[in-house]
Amino acid sequence: MKIAVLSDIHVGLNRKNTGMDIMSHLIKWIAINTPEVFIISGDMTAGPERSYVLLNRLQGEFPKMKILFVHGNHDIYHEDSKSAYDTLLDFPGNLGNGPVELNDRWVVIGDGGWYDYTYGIEGYTEEQFSIGTFNNFTWPDKTNAHWPSSDQGETKRYLEKLEGWLKDHQHKNIILVTHVVPFSRYIQVKNNPGWDFFNSMMGSKHFGELAEKYQVKKYIFGHIHTRYHEHFNGIEIICNPLGYYPHEWKSANAEEEVFSTIKVIEI
Ligand SMILES: [Fe+2]
Ligand SMILES: [Fe+2]
Repeated sequence: MKIAVLSDIHVGLNRKNTGMDIMSHLIKWIAINTPEVFIISGDMTAGPERSYVLLNRLQGEFPKMKILFVHGNHDIYHEDSKSAYDTLLDFPGNLGNGPVELNDRWVVIGDGGWYDYTYGIEGYTEEQFSIGTFNNFTWPDKTNAHWPSSDQGETKRYLEKLEGWLKDHQHKNIILVTHVVPFSRYIQVKNNPGWDFFNSMMGSKHFGELAEKYQVKKYIFGHIHTRYHEHFNGIEIICNPLGYYPHEWKSANAEEEVFSTIKVIEI
């Protein structure tokens, strides 16, 4: 079974900055490569309605392809992020609806996840991370996402939900998907507090602990706009963001960037 993997498409922003229609390149790639499953690990665009429309457009173009999706932080930018989360659950392939069995051996389990400052640098308080401002820059989630609970509370909710599903599917080969980062190994520490302060908003080491506890076979995530594909602690790790044009792209041409970035794995 051919599974395509991509995250952090940020369609709106990339369309604006490149002047090119990113979706049409994505659609062209799918038409040529015909994956049976497409896993998108968050940050499709900004706001739930736009993300929902994009997912439906993609599904409409390829009704037979199974689109599996977890939300990113940008996808729930809304005055009420819980309602944004619920809006996105209307898309059947949203992994927040529950595990999806690909065949009698493999199951995909996931949800967007959030962060609890376990990647925060020393010398700062939880309160400072929760305000999220350093040197006059405020982490955009702080003004654009509005959850009912604290960052730690929301992260705990995701962890409990995922653990319940993992427990129920221990006998299967599990592909775990979140938007946020599960292992500190993928956090870039630059020894520059202006950067490292915001690592607190990259994810939680507790997602990685769950992956190890339940011996998942593959872990797909996004959020950091750096691409990884390797084996770590017995887990195949895939972080495959498109990221922002121009500084995170290798090519100036949107079609080339989309075509060279999308990863295909086989199970
Ligand atoms: Fe992103
Ligand atoms: Fe993100």
